[in-house]
Amino acid sequence: MERTMTIIVLVWLIAVCGFSTTSAEESSKAYGLDDGLVRTPPMGWYPWNQFGQEPQNEQLIKEIADALVKSGMHDVGYTFVGPDEGICFSRDSNNELVTNQKRYPSGLRGIGDYIHKKGLKYALYTDAGTLTCSNAMPGTKGYEFEDMKQFAKWRCDYVKIDWCNTDGQDIIKTYTKLHDAQHAAGRPIVHSLCSWGVGEPWKWAASVGHLWRTTGDICGPGKAEWEDAVTIAFENEKLYKWAGPGHWNDPDMLVVGMDGLSESQNRSLFSLWCMMASPLIAGNDLRNMSASTIQILTNIEAIGVNQDPLGIQGHIVRSDGNVSIWAGKPLYDGSQAVLVFNQQSSPADVRIEWSDIGIDKKDALYVRNLWTHKTSGPHTDGISVSVGVNDVAMLRVSKTNKFPIAPIIVADSYFVSLRASDTTDQSLSATITISNKGSDDLPLWKVQKELPSWLTVTVSKNGNKQTLTNTISTSGLKKGLYHAIVRADNTEPVSGKPMSAVYYDVDLEVPETK
Ligand code: GLA
Repeated sequence: MERTMTIIVLVWLIAVCGFSTTSAEESSKAYGLDDGLVRTPPMGWYPWNQFGQEPQNEQLIKEIADALVKSGMHDVGYTFVGPDEGICFSRDSNNELVTNQKRYPSGLRGIGDYIHKKGLKYALYTDAGTLTCSNAMPGTKGYEFEDMKQFAKWRCDYVKIDWCNTDGQDIIKTYTKLHDAQHAAGRPIVHSLCSWGVGEPWKWAASVGHLWRTTGDICGPGKAEWEDAVTIAFENEKLYKWAGPGHWNDPDMLVVGMDGLSESQNRSLFSLWCMMASPLIAGNDLRNMSASTIQILTNIEAIGVNQDPLGIQGHIVRSDGNVSIWAGKPLYDGSQAVLVFNQQSSPADVRIEWSDIGIDKKDALYVRNLWTHKTSGPHTDGISVSVGVNDVAMLRVSKTNKFPIAPIIVADSYFVSLRASDTTDQSLSATITISNKGSDDLPLWKVQKELPSWLTVTVSKNGNKQTLTNTISTSGLKKGLYHAIVRADNTEPVSGKPMSAVYYDVDLEVPETK
């Protein structure tokens, strides 16, 4: 479903702890998701596949956030990170969610700030029922508006909402209420629905969420199973027509780099997830990766296919026994992605005819191999490839021999925090730098018009980097804490498809007069 992007934007100017609850329950079900979030599949990391529950705590999340940056993953677009069902909060006697300080001593807001300052976005986890899946944390049932308000106060940007302990609940009404509650809480948050395919969310969830699990869990904590992961990919493949910008089929977090998989299996799974425009949420231990795992997870040519602005999910166009050809994934520059996947116990020599992938057989096409990073051609009629056991050939075919990488946005921070020295009039400033790791030059990001009177944001450009300078004037401001969420949009990139909106928090503290 295509949605209109508007630059009309939301600013929430909030004195500390003052999130607005205006007309929460009245909010209309009719709005679409014009929030501009995840217009390409979300990329990030979640702990569940590797760690399960017990090892999750503040130190692990911070170490992983550090590793995500250090390994180069941040540089190619991985952004969302945070605890899964990590025993992060409980409900207190006032029925409010409170951080489990034993495990997360900085508090869930403190961890969010740590993550935002690294140029990452903050992901949390909850459940639509009475309790989370292992009954270790409260679910949102009956407290949807209160809990979403708390998630907003913690400055969460992405919430995975599980479907355990939901006996008797109507799935569409429940997830709609949660979306309404988030909207009322006034913070843009990516909604990741996790009903494992229950209720066929692909048919209705695009108006209340940004991605939905299509299958059961890909693995138990700590060990990946090749057959299970492949089965999940094939189940998800069938649903290709339901995915698109801002609304994605989610075949679960990646198992790349976990125990139980060979290098070729890792490469195959990563390629399948890229072809299916699936969320790239790594699930391995980022602190301890082999060179091969890093090379696979950071292959920007494969990631460029996943992050293509057209947001089309590829699918199987031909199957010969245990060899499948995946195509149906046109890319923004007029090229097409093609994947040959060999599940045989012996290597396969495969001929791809251009007619297999919907191209005129007389066309002379260049072929780029996205794993060997070599271009050949032009080829007419088709091309032959050799594919190893449990391996892939991931290709891009194009009328030109240029293979530009789709825009990939990386910010140096999502948090501006400024403090005046006293209540005398002052001007303060801090920058956010947004880099584009893709090939094309991006027009200037446009900042929303409605900013609070104390904040001005200007944008300047230097090569593939754009700097958003946040200037604050404290003139006329009383002692207090001020907060705004700034939105910037890039609606006319070379791909013609609006990019995901960039949001970040600005905090200002004006202390007592000296
Ligand atoms: C469900 C989800 C998993 C994980 C666990 C946590 O099984 O599908 O991804 O979040 O719950 O208990």
